[in-house]
Amino acid sequence: MTLEIERDGEIAVVTVDNPPVNALSQALRQDLCDAAEALDADPAIRAVILLCAGRTFIAGADVAEFGKPPVPPHLPDVVARIEAARKPWLAAIHGSALGGGLEVALGCRFRLASPSAKLGLPEVRLGIVPGAGGTVRLPRLVGPAIAAEMITSGAPIDAQTASSRGLIDMVIDGDLEKGAIDFARTALGRPLPPPLRDRTVPTLEQTAWDRITKTVAARAKGEDAPLRALACVRRAVDADFETAMTFERETFLALRGSAQATALRHVFFAERAARRPPELAGVTPKRIGSAAVVGGGTMGAGIAAALRDADFPVTLVERDEAALARGLANLRAIFDSAVQRGRISPETAAERITGVIGTTDYGMLANAELVIEAVFEDMEVKREVFARLARSCRPDAILATNTSYLDPERIAAGIAQPERFLGLHFFSPAHVMKLVEIVPTAATAPEVLASAFELARTLNKVPVRAGICDGFIGNRLLKVTRAQAERLLLTGATPQAVDAAMRRFGLPMGPFEAQDLAGLDIAAFQRRAARARGEMPFAPIAERLCAIERLGQKTGGGWYDYASGDRTPRPSEIVSAIIVETAAGGTRRQWDEAGIVDCIVLPMINEAARILEEGVAIRAADIDLVEIHGYGFPRWRGGLMHYAEARGLQNIVGGLNTLADQGLADPPARTLRQGRHEPRG
Ligand code: 3HC
Ligand code: NAI
Repeated sequence: MTLEIERDGEIAVVTVDNPPVNALSQALRQDLCDAAEALDADPAIRAVILLCAGRTFIAGADVAEFGKPPVPPHLPDVVARIEAARKPWLAAIHGSALGGGLEVALGCRFRLASPSAKLGLPEVRLGIVPGAGGTVRLPRLVGPAIAAEMITSGAPIDAQTASSRGLIDMVIDGDLEKGAIDFARTALGRPLPPPLRDRTVPTLEQTAWDRITKTVAARAKGEDAPLRALACVRRAVDADFETAMTFERETFLALRGSAQATALRHVFFAERAARRPPELAGVTPKRIGSAAVVGGGTMGAGIAAALRDADFPVTLVERDEAALARGLANLRAIFDSAVQRGRISPETAAERITGVIGTTDYGMLANAELVIEAVFEDMEVKREVFARLARSCRPDAILATNTSYLDPERIAAGIAQPERFLGLHFFSPAHVMKLVEIVPTAATAPEVLASAFELARTLNKVPVRAGICDGFIGNRLLKVTRAQAERLLLTGATPQAVDAAMRRFGLPMGPFEAQDLAGLDIAAFQRRAARARGEMPFAPIAERLCAIERLGQKTGGGWYDYASGDRTPRPSEIVSAIIVETAAGGTRRQWDEAGIVDCIVLPMINEAARILEEGVAIRAADIDLVEIHGYGFPRWRGGLMHYAEARGLQNIVGGLNTLADQGLADPPARTLRQGRHEPRG
């Protein structure tokens, strides 16, 4: 049984217990219908409380069932059964009432919630629309404008907001079950409100619909579900209940098997699997109660903020008092900005800052259980810092480097207890970006590695294990993106055409706009280091731009020109001339958008295949997470390797062969030629 029924006089309490998140599996759907039948038939019962055991209310339909043929009872029928029950049902919500979970609650006559509850219809995030009446009942309860916002954004709201919008009848502090039973007893003494299906929907002016449509279309960026969900809400306002329900169900079923929904489900499960790598099953992570960060620059301040957001006490170490003052100011700026954006209160910001001890004394690290180094990207500086850390810290403290390109094995060479050392590569801004590459050395102990994954989970990050190579997974792929983007310029494309094509593919920014934002000097520094190692990085045009100090927005020009105080990229005649000069004699051709995208994305897939062959990444889905959470690859395409798989590896190989024939890419990697992208065995 997935639920239990208890009786408290004339009130029945139905407790759903379907771990881990009470998802609406076929068994639970059946049990809910049976419970409604049994309680309707029980003359002693006058009302039914629906609550959940465990950490949350019903978190939605069972996503794992989406790829399989649906088995009755279907969720809309379960909600309809509860709504039609002769005894009124009251949903008592703790944790999250999401998707089908909220739809079940909308089938109840009343909704009550703990103060910490979250309510939402996040289906669009899975590439679908609510499929059990959410788009039809919610507008009847909160009005079409609020319903449209909740359904098309997929963002959950808290209990207080839900209460102010009429979605919740009462927020219950303290014992939810007892509060719900008291509420039910009072409610039975008054006339009951009609079920939502019998209520009318407020209408909306055409101008309001136009405004909402514009906002949703702008936000969707290539995703189908949000506009389809809006169409369902619109139908709920314009048509009768049954017609709107049919329209919603048809839309839900059409989207459920779509390429976008398949991709988004893949990412949903990949994100959860990433936090619990099977190779570390059974390894107990070390307890981390306090943390320190060395270096308070761009990354150090961001990492310290991420640690504070998760309530770790943090010690921030800088090289001198002036640098420490700058580091603490960087940290303060992060929290001030969070206050300005309304994300945290001024009190929370103050509490986060007071939880940081700034110092220049490594002796203050004697008790830290985790130290993350984020000093200059310089081997000697880092080696010296770790030599000092190894002397100052407890022998069992975890020591981590945030290096982007340096070899962690060399950084740690010679330190005592090397098994406590590893790379933790955060992305900028570290308090915002979800990706963390976890880079063990040959000596890293399994429990240290497991602790890094546990830390990522606590910080609400997406961890991906990466092997050691230049740039690990993400920056190694980024080098390919940039080199291919330059090859396009040398063969006839313009920076604006390349950027526009990549944006239309779904990236937030094209490769040239992104470089102008970050600054061209960082990559130039990496190329110098690579040349010193005997490598031959390919960036002929970027090199020339750096030589004339066109370093991006910060110098008023890079790949584009910028007017003072304006970040709008404008085509640059200087850059056009440099491109023509650098391309001298080469064949130039007309590039269309699809060709541009292929010239960048197919070689990235090729490099990713080699990354997997070398074992630098251990799962194709990890590469998907790196691209989505580190570089803005469109989530609805499922990430780089899911995109390759969905398009067909034969097609990718064909495209790569064509590019290789033109001298624009390497021939396809072995595993791609063999029709697989996961290394075997
Ligand atoms: N179906 C199946 N499994 C689910 C699930 C779901 N809806 N939601 C979570 N899970 C699983 C996870 O895969 C994970 O499994 P694992 O332990 O084997 O890896 C486990 O539950 C715990 O999940 P989290 O690690 O995400 O747990 P958290 O405590 O961090 O978060 C949560 C809990 C907020 C409920 C979060 O899991 C979540 O957001 N879930 C998705 C909710 C959702 O999208 N619901 C809508 C589904 S679509 C729908 O309802 C359609 C309907 O309209 C017809
Ligand atoms: P930064 O130059 O902004 O900050 C470095 C800080 O380290 C400075 O505040 C400096 O005073 C401090 N420092 C130098 N030597 C020190 C010492 N001996 N003890 C204590 N503090 C010392 O550099 P940034 O950008 O924060 O980079 C730091 C590290 O993070 C580098 O290894 C970099 O490759 C890596 N990284 C950078 C990313 C970025 O986008 N900036 C992204 C991911 C990783």
